[in-house]
Amino acid sequence: MEDSTFERDIDAGLSAPFKHISSKYFYDDIGSGIFQQIMKMPEYYPTASEFEILSLQSDKIIEQLNFKEPFNIVEFGAGDGIKTRQLLKKLMAQKIDFTYVPIDISARAIRELKNNMLATLPEMKIRPMVGNYFSMAEDLSHGETPALFLFLGGNIGNYQNEEANALFSQFGSNMRPGDKLLTGFDLRKNPATIRNAYDDKQGITKAFNLNLLTRINRELNANFELGQFDFYSHYDPANGEVKSYLVSLVAQRVYIGKTDKHYSFAQNELIWTELSKKFTLEEIGELAVANNFSIVAHFMDCKHYFTDSLWIK
Ligand code: AVJ
Repeated sequence: MEDSTFERDIDAGLSAPFKHISSKYFYDDIGSGIFQQIMKMPEYYPTASEFEILSLQSDKIIEQLNFKEPFNIVEFGAGDGIKTRQLLKKLMAQKIDFTYVPIDISARAIRELKNNMLATLPEMKIRPMVGNYFSMAEDLSHGETPALFLFLGGNIGNYQNEEANALFSQFGSNMRPGDKLLTGFDLRKNPATIRNAYDDKQGITKAFNLNLLTRINRELNANFELGQFDFYSHYDPANGEVKSYLVSLVAQRVYIGKTDKHYSFAQNELIWTELSKKFTLEEIGELAVANNFSIVAHFMDCKHYFTDSLWIK
């Protein structure tokens, strides 16, 4: 099922006049491992910024929740949960009655997350769910229990404006009045800081992008030669968009066995792989209003690089 979607998306993306591959395909097991390395790079500030916010400001976040207990904390795309654990630790210390419901499409990620959480917070109620965000969120929305939804890490930056609106409106349709949403947004800042985060000297981000081709070779039986492609990333401070690309170094043809087709690349032709949008507080306000949320508060790190923005339905 997943395979045929992958095949269709890759075929469509490499057949388009302007070639593209969705950044959601970065995260196979190898890509998830490379992303772990990215999060440890000194240049990649978003992880440290959000970690600081959740370490130092969780008490303030909890104060603003103001929920009748018990409540649920539903996390979309939970990942390794290291940042979220800072918030959960504080809730446990205050003896607040809640259930943590992490949702992820990767069964393996969810299993590891559960074990990690229970190792440090053995008393916590945790109800992990494997699957699609929206069918899971819909199931939960039938109960009476208030909910805080978490969409952390700045993943929203990967979505173009219309898609981001569609996502927030979907979130909203699974929330009842009074439910809240905490979303991580990477903010505008010195352009050089942003550029360095997405174009590291060690080439880890390049490897992250090239892994898309490795994945296509393996899963779709293709013959991409990785040495024939370079990586290029560009930040435009005028609109806050980081765009990442693979660049074909020579004119070449690549064969994909699964589709039984050849794909031609001109020399220097691009494959667009990712948008990582940086937001202004005004843009965040517009997204909230457009999708019928009110902003309760922004929780920012001391450098104001990143915000976890709390919205109420
Ligand atoms: C996981 C989507 C937040 O866009 O900053 C890191 C992924 N791409 N370096 C981001 C990523 C290149 C990351 N997100």
